[in-house]
Amino acid sequence: MPAKLIDGNLLAKHIRTQIAASAAILTAQGIKPGLAVILVGENPASQVYVRNKVKACADAGFYSVLENYPDDLSEVDLLKRINALNLAPEIHGILVQLPLPPHIDSHAVLEAINPLKDVDGFHVANAGALMTGAPIFKPCTPYACMKMLESIEYPIRGARAVIVGASNIVGKPVSMLLLQAGATVTICNSKTRDLGFHTREADILVVATGKPKMITANFVKPGAVVIDVGINRLPDGKLCGDVDFDEVKYVAGWITPVPGGVGPMTITMLLQNTLEAAQKKYQSLHA
Ligand code: GUN
Repeated sequence: MPAKLIDGNLLAKHIRTQIAASAAILTAQGIKPGLAVILVGENPASQVYVRNKVKACADAGFYSVLENYPDDLSEVDLLKRINALNLAPEIHGILVQLPLPPHIDSHAVLEAINPLKDVDGFHVANAGALMTGAPIFKPCTPYACMKMLESIEYPIRGARAVIVGASNIVGKPVSMLLLQAGATVTICNSKTRDLGFHTREADILVVATGKPKMITANFVKPGAVVIDVGINRLPDGKLCGDVDFDEVKYVAGWITPVPGGVGPMTITMLLQNTLEAAQKKYQSLHA
């Protein structure tokens, strides 16, 4: 396999050790980082994600609470809960797992979170500030992609980055972070004509489409860094990314695996954001 692996598990372990050490110091100073995770409904993938997030909090010495509401929770009741968490002193970060049931307006819910507790970075204040270069919190998956590039000391400045997928959660924000780091960025979407024409130009290829193994070897420039944000369950129960790893590993220079790539790093950046939210709280109390 010519491509080198960017091992998300290993990198996550390293960063989480540092986060846990900082959390212990803050806890000794009287502020234990606290995260509230809200899940509405019983989406099986979301259940796994939120469980992993809560477990990661416990492992890092954070306080966390998982609030799991039935699928028919009203938007008004969800907004009331968010307001209560906005005021709760032991909670520094609030995360509402997406997707929400269709009767709930996700935008209204995300806008209800205090931007100082918006550790997902989805509030319009954080999304807007990301555009201008100074968000309070960066969204966790885009932040994870940047950390993975940083871990291999990839020279982003002047590189050509191509993003496949233009979601608010991944595609748009990761394109902004790469642009700010000096890359020349192309964002492709589901309507892009001749996708391969664009992806084959990429020095850095970030794929977040939700389509299992859609990026095959012929989409990839030899030597490129390929970051696979996808996580899909195949009929046989196995997990795979949006990149056909078994083919692309022979073409790419670097590649992230699924599982064990971006996933554990996304949770790590959630811990990082929650730690920073708690540190800001400490600073505001001791200014
Ligand atoms: N659903 C898929 N990815 C995410 C994420 O990063 N945060 C939240 N809140 N929901 C998601």
